[in-house]
Amino acid sequence: MNRVYTDLGGHMAIAVDGVDLREPPTPALAAELRRALWDNIVLCIRGQSIDPAAFLAAGRAFGEPEIRPEIPHVPGFPAVTTLSSEDRDTKGDGKRLVAGANWHSDDTFMPRPSALTVLYGIVVPAVGGDTQYANMYAAYEALPAEQRRSLDTLQVVHTMKPARADLARTRSIDPAILAQRPPSTHPLVRTHPETGRKALYISRNRMDHIVGMEREASHRLIDDLVDHATQPQFTYRHKWTQGDLVVWDNRCSMHKANGDYPEGARRFMQRIVVAGEVPV
Ligand code: SIN
Repeated sequence: MNRVYTDLGGHMAIAVDGVDLREPPTPALAAELRRALWDNIVLCIRGQSIDPAAFLAAGRAFGEPEIRPEIPHVPGFPAVTTLSSEDRDTKGDGKRLVAGANWHSDDTFMPRPSALTVLYGIVVPAVGGDTQYANMYAAYEALPAEQRRSLDTLQVVHTMKPARADLARTRSIDPAILAQRPPSTHPLVRTHPETGRKALYISRNRMDHIVGMEREASHRLIDDLVDHATQPQFTYRHKWTQGDLVVWDNRCSMHKANGDYPEGARRFMQRIVVAGEVPV
């Protein structure tokens, strides 16, 4: 099958047609897809119709899938979690959950946050439910040099329990799981291990405070950076087509889910997170 790459967002995001993931990617194809991802931050592999085993094998082409016990998973596949329009906060008030509805990078509360996320659109709504992405290399590079130098020195404490309860509804987390996830401290600007480029590293909801700064002042600075990074020239909005398998690089992007599809419309995704490294 011929592979055809199509630019999606100009400054980030690319789609590829002509990849059939019912067979695990060969090492050469896996290397090609990873290269496309490093160059474009978001990679959409179109037209897939695969079972969880094939999805897991596709995830492995990008690295080591991780297990996230607090998220529902496909029976028999603990690393393949699910996101559904039917999700309800069963440990909290029972209301509808839209996971990731705030700009964030995945799992920044972990000492080695997930490098990549792979999301497979099995049922997508006709209207709404897009995923938005922000290019954090471009956002960093557009800042004045003096501000970049000052941000380069900052470290941020991230917590699994959302630091900003006012910002978004998130799944209530089992205290036993919370106890296993102490805070992690990461640089506000990190260097990507594959490209060597610097990027803002922000996950607003999980950022408790900047080391050496009061919480309120920390949150003000983080909010300003999110406002900067989510300007149209740094963002791409993915409108899902059924069968899209979208991979993104958490080390140089933020993303945001949109729960704006009509009540009763279905959205069902399978998701894999790929192990990362200690951010530097
Ligand atoms: C996520 O934040 O990982 C989910 C994004 C989405 O459902 O659009």
